Amino acid sequence: MDAISLDKQARDILTLNDRGGYTVPTEGLYPYQWNWDSAFAAWGFASFDITRAWQELETLLSGQWPSGMVPHILFHADDPGYFPGPGVWGTEDIGPVRSSGISQPPVAASFAKAVHDRAPDQGLPHIRTLYPKLLKWHRWFMTWRLDQGMIFITHPWEAGRDNAPDWDAAMAAIDPVGVGEYTRRDTGHVDPSMRPTKADYDRYIWLVQRGKRLGWVDADMDRDPPFRVADPTITFILLRAHRDLGAIADLLGESRDEIDSWITTLEAGAENHRGPGGHFCGVNLLTSTHTGHLSSASFLNWYAGIDCDVMLKALDASFDTATYPVPSHAVTSQGFDGMRYWRGPTWAIMNTLIGRGLSDMGHDTHGERLRRQTAALIAEHGFAEYFHPLTGAPAGGGTFTWTAAIWLAWASPNAGDV
Ligand code: GLC
Repeated sequence: MDAISLDKQARDILTLNDRGGYTVPTEGLYPYQWNWDSAFAAWGFASFDITRAWQELETLLSGQWPSGMVPHILFHADDPGYFPGPGVWGTEDIGPVRSSGISQPPVAASFAKAVHDRAPDQGLPHIRTLYPKLLKWHRWFMTWRLDQGMIFITHPWEAGRDNAPDWDAAMAAIDPVGVGEYTRRDTGHVDPSMRPTKADYDRYIWLVQRGKRLGWVDADMDRDPPFRVADPTITFILLRAHRDLGAIADLLGESRDEIDSWITTLEAGAENHRGPGGHFCGVNLLTSTHTGHLSSASFLNWYAGIDCDVMLKALDASFDTATYPVPSHAVTSQGFDGMRYWRGPTWAIMNTLIGRGLSDMGHDTHGERLRRQTAALIAEHGFAEYFHPLTGAPAGGGTFTWTAAIWLAWASPNAGDV
């Protein structure tokens, strides 16, 4: 299919998944508003409907909790086809919109800036309204999720890489006692071999039940935590988002001192993510152990503004071993599973962040190669949630919002890279 037809198909997917002010990632499997999915969606909308792009970000931030946390799911309208829904999270008395109780990678400030840069005059009033909310969210991360200069997660879903091997040891140490019976809905929408296992799910739900019991009060959640893993996804994404928020502060004539101090903290802390061999990886903070796993999040260092030869060599190896890089878990690693969620498949959105980072830091050949390979993957295999890195086989949900969005904003030969 040619690029113009693909552009149209991508716009149609965003329109199809539009629920009025927000998009769902895909019908059925994910029927609500997801945090980082929405920020990508806004970037995609900006290529053909700037007003709708701003609306997506504004709806996302409308769910912000008084603490500053922006939830990973906003349950705007009931859908019995999803588990765990609002009743399981028990957050009804906390935020302005019914929601989950954890956050997700904060890409929103970066995409707000990208949407602004596409049409600055139109963007100024929107970015002025969003700025204090984004600042408060970033401050929440720096207050409640910072340890040794790295950002940690309290639940695997907070990283956006739900069942990545980075969490295995920490999850195995949890005894999900009393989790009780529940009915999963995800495996009714897609093949169970592409989804997390029951052992993982018991622990996901057990952690949600703990949060609910503690009323999601940050200080209480912080005491005796059963799961605390520093996550390169969030450390790197937040570092980049701080830089973009700093640029927004400049634009608005606001002081950026606090933001600059956060940048300094995370720049130093990012080094603590280096495991054996100098690769960036997760750190189980309860045992002070580097996970050692080379994931697609390991390669977000350039996106965060950190150059690294070791990672460039690892990327070359990834290019050599995967037909469609970058796999979520290295093809040559033990436990690689090309179809199972975050344990092998390639995600187009991760490629976008990695590719933009490479190009921003002068590694144009690598960045451009990744962009072209991602474009080929989508052109040959469609707008799937994720793909097998060796065969390109589409997996998970179809007609996926963020895959369509990054096609429009980045991968398509017609994309205006903002
Ligand atoms: C899965 C992904 C997460 C994403 C969500 C909706 O849970 O792991 O990153 O936000 O689906 O697409």
